[in-house]
Amino acid sequence: MQSLMNRYGIVGRNETLREALATAVLVAPTDLSVLIQGESGVGKEIVPRIIHDYSKRKGKTYIAINCGAIPEGTIDSELFGHEKGSFTSAIGEHEGFFGAADGGTLFLDEVGELPLSTQARLLRVLETGEYLRVGSSTPRKTNVRIVAATNVDIPNAIKQGRFREDLYYRLCTINIKIPPLRKRQGDAVLLFKKFALDTAARYNIPEPIRLTPEAEAVVNSYKWPGNIRQLRNITEQLSILSESRSITPEVLAKHGITPNSDLDTGIATIGGNSSTQHDYEQEIKILAHAVFELRSEVQELKDKLQEGNWHDTHTSTTLPVPLSTQKKAQHTQPLELDIPTAEEIIDDDTLNIGDMEKRNILLALQRNHYKRKLAAEELGISERTLYRKIKAYGIDE
Ligand SMILES: Nc1ncnc2c1ncn2[C@@H]1O[C@H](COP(=O)(O)OP(=O)(O)O)[C@@H](O)[C@H]1O
Ligand SMILES: [Mg+2]
Repeated sequence: MQSLMNRYGIVGRNETLREALATAVLVAPTDLSVLIQGESGVGKEIVPRIIHDYSKRKGKTYIAINCGAIPEGTIDSELFGHEKGSFTSAIGEHEGFFGAADGGTLFLDEVGELPLSTQARLLRVLETGEYLRVGSSTPRKTNVRIVAATNVDIPNAIKQGRFREDLYYRLCTINIKIPPLRKRQGDAVLLFKKFALDTAARYNIPEPIRLTPEAEAVVNSYKWPGNIRQLRNITEQLSILSESRSITPEVLAKHGITPNSDLDTGIATIGGNSSTQHDYEQEIKILAHAVFELRSEVQELKDKLQEGNWHDTHTSTTLPVPLSTQKKAQHTQPLELDIPTAEEIIDDDTLNIGDMEKRNILLALQRNHYKRKLAAEELGISERTLYRKIKAYGIDE
């Protein structure tokens, strides 16, 4: 178990989690369909990867699809392919994921988001191993192992007529439940340490942040509605933004992490009136950091070009010292960021619209405790559009 966890970078002592991983290894050599259930951010995506890697399909294709991210109008053709001319924009034929994954594993993430018509097609392929491309009446054979995941309560979706009961039973031959972080006593602190080390290594930060004993107690008792994803993001933010390397309960409280706080109070403090000013400052800080990173990257690119004796007409532009260089220069000092003012951020043409949008999405997700529905509402876009953007910007990663 420990070597499996090391291999996949999984941290935790929780027995239920370890049992879930053991089940994944156990069922891997079979072709049984597996349904992984758990809240958002609990680590569901690791399981299908383990199942594929420990199966005889290992050397074959592994495809992960987020069913909620594909527009309803094209999902059938994405999954099952289409024939040339089967609809207006179908210029050529398209193989589809079921064809492409033949012999391998298909991971259907957010399977609860599939439209009912697609669910019918999926049931058919699961039962017969055959499917029809859109616009074709010739069945095609495929040998695909299906692993699905969901963070919605499928029995409830069945009651509401949004999910086919027969498909549910077909998908969950094996059921793997990943517990939320709040039910893994002690794991949050272990994960915090791992993410602090990872972030320090990735950004060349000389000293990883650490929790005071009081802060450890807070991290342990906090409910973590966004689970490990939320914990990872907070740890990364603190690693970069906190002036002190020692994280106290006060610092955590500024990020909405308070002892025994639950989802309701979390949303209330973040969206509420009393903390609006603070959140605004926090957003500016994060945006400023994004600007800074971009500048550093531009500078690094320029340095690389110069090293290669490339002629660069823009080398006279003055850019701040790259962040990485600053960090190396002050090894034992706490990390200090040169935060530009809001005006500088707005004037800065190195921050493009895409980056701004990505940041906005990240912040909205964070403010809404990674509940995509609420974040989408706040952003004024549909949930499906949000899924698509999350995927496009690699935020899910
Ligand atoms: N036990 C764990 N140890 C280390 N990292 C984890 C663990 N569980 C989840 N993660 C990380 O947390 C993030 C969210 O996990 P993910 O599988 O995407 O969640 P889900 O699909 O359940 O929403 C990923 O970056 C993942 O690598
Ligand atoms: Mg996921």
